[in-house]
Amino acid sequence: MTLTQADVLAIRREFPIFERKIHGKRLVFLDSAASSQKPRAVIDAMVHIYTHSYANIHRGLYTLAEEATTAYETAREKIARFINAPETAEIVNVRNATEGLNLVAYAWGEEHIQAGDRIIITEMEHHANLVPWQQLALRKGAELAFLPVTDAGELDIEGLSPLLSDGRTKVVACTMVSNVLGTIPDIVRIVTMAREAGALTVIDGAQSVPHMPVDVQALGADFMAFSGHKMCGPGVGILWGRRALLEEMPPFLYGGDMIRTVKKDKTIWNDLPNKFEAGTPPIAEVVGLGAAVDFLIDIGMDNIHTYEQQLVKYTLEQLRVVPGLHILGPEAGQRGGAVSFWMEVAHPHDIAAILDEDGICVRAGHHCAQPLHIRYGLPATVRASFYVYNNEEDVDMLVRGLHKVIKILGR
Ligand SMILES: Cc1ncc(COP(=O)(O)O)c(C=O)c1O
Repeated sequence: MTLTQADVLAIRREFPIFERKIHGKRLVFLDSAASSQKPRAVIDAMVHIYTHSYANIHRGLYTLAEEATTAYETAREKIARFINAPETAEIVNVRNATEGLNLVAYAWGEEHIQAGDRIIITEMEHHANLVPWQQLALRKGAELAFLPVTDAGELDIEGLSPLLSDGRTKVVACTMVSNVLGTIPDIVRIVTMAREAGALTVIDGAQSVPHMPVDVQALGADFMAFSGHKMCGPGVGILWGRRALLEEMPPFLYGGDMIRTVKKDKTIWNDLPNKFEAGTPPIAEVVGLGAAVDFLIDIGMDNIHTYEQQLVKYTLEQLRVVPGLHILGPEAGQRGGAVSFWMEVAHPHDIAAILDEDGICVRAGHHCAQPLHIRYGLPATVRASFYVYNNEEDVDMLVRGLHKVIKILGR
């Protein structure tokens, strides 16, 4: 099913922030790749738990603590179903996608990576899926290899076979959707090739899980991290990992809740997932993410993906006719909802500032992907990124704003 313009306007009305004006203008929010806006259902779920059922979870034997624990664990079940995780206990609640990726790089990486091993990532990784691996490689004397991207913004998967052939690769970490280029690599092929070579796979789902159906069992990967705050939820992240791997990994953080018993000289770890959730977790945030999952399922992940692809196609068509504007990344089709570009007449920061005067929010900078920008010889780009509350009128406003940039700065 395709979402109609009326459907999208109805969805937008679910987000209270779109009632406000910026500099007297309608808010045109084109920065959802950084963090999405929140629907009333999510805000209400958080207000509800704080107003009616808030207490610390797991430890209390009183009614409020039981209610809060049930709400927290019910949300975990929803999140597990959303990505088709084989078990709810494989869902670890963390602060953000970055923490999930760091957890794997530390807890798994410290035990398994040795001098001379190879870690493969790609040139289009967000720093969250780059720096933890880079630092692990430096600590261990391992090699960090980058799968290149082409001039057209596609991932060069052919480069993977030679890297995998000598048996030194222990892990392949790759994003499912580039937050800069919008590229959607053939992740199933990458995972299959890595597995056949005996390497572990870590998927960065930060830009995929909010925008398309993602089934970790169909992907066949070992770990996947993603951000709740990019999928209509609050500030929380999720790490999914295979039980067998999570079981044999040491904890990442130590303290309360992650233990079964503590003696003065010895500690026995708690069961999954608690072993990886030290201290008081973000209780209301996880409950809010459960509500966000309900909200997205109600719209339909397939519908969101199809709709966003149409919107991106329209955006590419409209941007292509703006004079002196250069778009990064592949053609429309299999492409995510982020469109980055640069203009000959102005620095990205100036473009963003001029657009803001008309209530249009875009991101300007390297979008936490500096090696990718260096690859294209650019210090910074402008990024417009979409979600299910955006429509063609938002794109038209953006294009009008870019013509204004040319008028002001294009002498
Ligand atoms: C592809 C990708 N990976 C990881 C992250 C990091 O997400 P978080 O800020 O939730 O840690 C982002 C955020 O922009 C991203 O786009």
